[in-house]
Amino acid sequence: MQRADFGDDFTWGVASASFQIEGAPTADGKKPSIWDEMVRLGRVAGEGGDQGIQFHDRYEDDLALIHELGFDANRISLSWPRLMGNGRDPWNPKGADFYDRVIDRMLELGLEPWVTVHHWDLPLALWNQGAWTRRGIVEDFAAFAERCAEAFGDRVKHWMVFNEPFSVIGSIVAGLHERRGPHPSKALRSAHHMNLACAEAGRRMRAVLGDAAQIGTTNVMSVVHPYEPTDERTARRKRALEALMVDIFLDPAGGLGYPFEATKLLAPLKRHIEDGDLEAATFRYDFMGVQYYGPLVGLRQLPVLGPTPLLSVPDGEVRIRSEVGVPLDPEGLLWTLRKYARHPAADRLVITEGGFGCQDRLVDGRIRDDIRIWSYRRHLEVVAEARAEGIPVDGYFAWSYADNIEWYLGRRPRFGLVYVDYEDDYRRIPKDSARWFQALLTEGADV
Ligand code: BGC
Repeated sequence: MQRADFGDDFTWGVASASFQIEGAPTADGKKPSIWDEMVRLGRVAGEGGDQGIQFHDRYEDDLALIHELGFDANRISLSWPRLMGNGRDPWNPKGADFYDRVIDRMLELGLEPWVTVHHWDLPLALWNQGAWTRRGIVEDFAAFAERCAEAFGDRVKHWMVFNEPFSVIGSIVAGLHERRGPHPSKALRSAHHMNLACAEAGRRMRAVLGDAAQIGTTNVMSVVHPYEPTDERTARRKRALEALMVDIFLDPAGGLGYPFEATKLLAPLKRHIEDGDLEAATFRYDFMGVQYYGPLVGLRQLPVLGPTPLLSVPDGEVRIRSEVGVPLDPEGLLWTLRKYARHPAADRLVITEGGFGCQDRLVDGRIRDDIRIWSYRRHLEVVAEARAEGIPVDGYFAWSYADNIEWYLGRRPRFGLVYVDYEDDYRRIPKDSARWFQALLTEGADV
């Protein structure tokens, strides 16, 4: 595989998110996000959850290293509580100054900034007012997105409104943030408000940024294994699960409304839909960000328990799961791209995240992460195959540039191309996978 196989218009990037890397939780007037609160409550495993990897103070070196590895784009996200402490006005100019410096430095290096407006770090104040269950958050978020476009739009040409609403909703369903446990009905209401917020933010951003800006959003996009069900029952279950995890966000954006026919579980959503909502949830994104790590949860028939949601491990090239439990299956990406390339919300696709998290070991100053290299190579081969089939997918962002805080799981799952040695002042050590990308991207090597 060579860089040239992908052509000149293909974007090679790395991705990260504010809470997972920045640290500096109280610098320059930043207020707490829900994740600072999770750290405070001890629900982020291990040490230093609120320190990220200290990107706030080390961004110059990090950006230089990303550039040195040969990437031409860097996907970051904006921390809402750093920019608008409690979620609404006033705007915090000191918080904005940090992103100004990061963006300017990227441009100086020739790294194209790809900016996600919201990647899960909701201001705690808004959480306390009902988070995404409160309909008013649609306006709060749209106003925030508009301010971000005004502040950074002179330099940022690639935007993603949301990162994976499904992950937020999934955590509500599972009750991970909740004192009282799982809450499916809150989750459905929240999903609808996120759809409205995403589209409204898209419209406000378009008004500020004009047609030259590329405004996309990102979603968990994947399919349930088996990819080609052979019986009716499995096909119906697969359809239902894909509707609950992916189509619930994509269909409204594409003007299709909600996939009620796929599963009865969506029915309670109807009572939250007001007149005009389905039109308001529609937005013509310039690209859809595909976040693919492996196949979706499937329902398995278990003794005693009956149909139970499980991440089924496909019989593919390998039977291995990442540290976060996701089966490694590059082939699923091809099925995903084939399925969603025809979706009205996704007529151009960019892989905005993909990667592999495990417990890397630093041995004699080196990290030999062959499995990660294998994973990237196979996923990229799949992207090349999809392009050869005529599927419009024109970028790949590796998650992540460096190890970081994997939400509830803390530092343990390492997803980086660069190892962070927390024991030695957060020292950055490029893993073998980083050098693999460097050879691919800067030397034109055949890898
Ligand atoms: C999220 C990232 C996360 C990654 C690895 C994605 O779902 O957008 O924030 O770290 O997966 O689990």
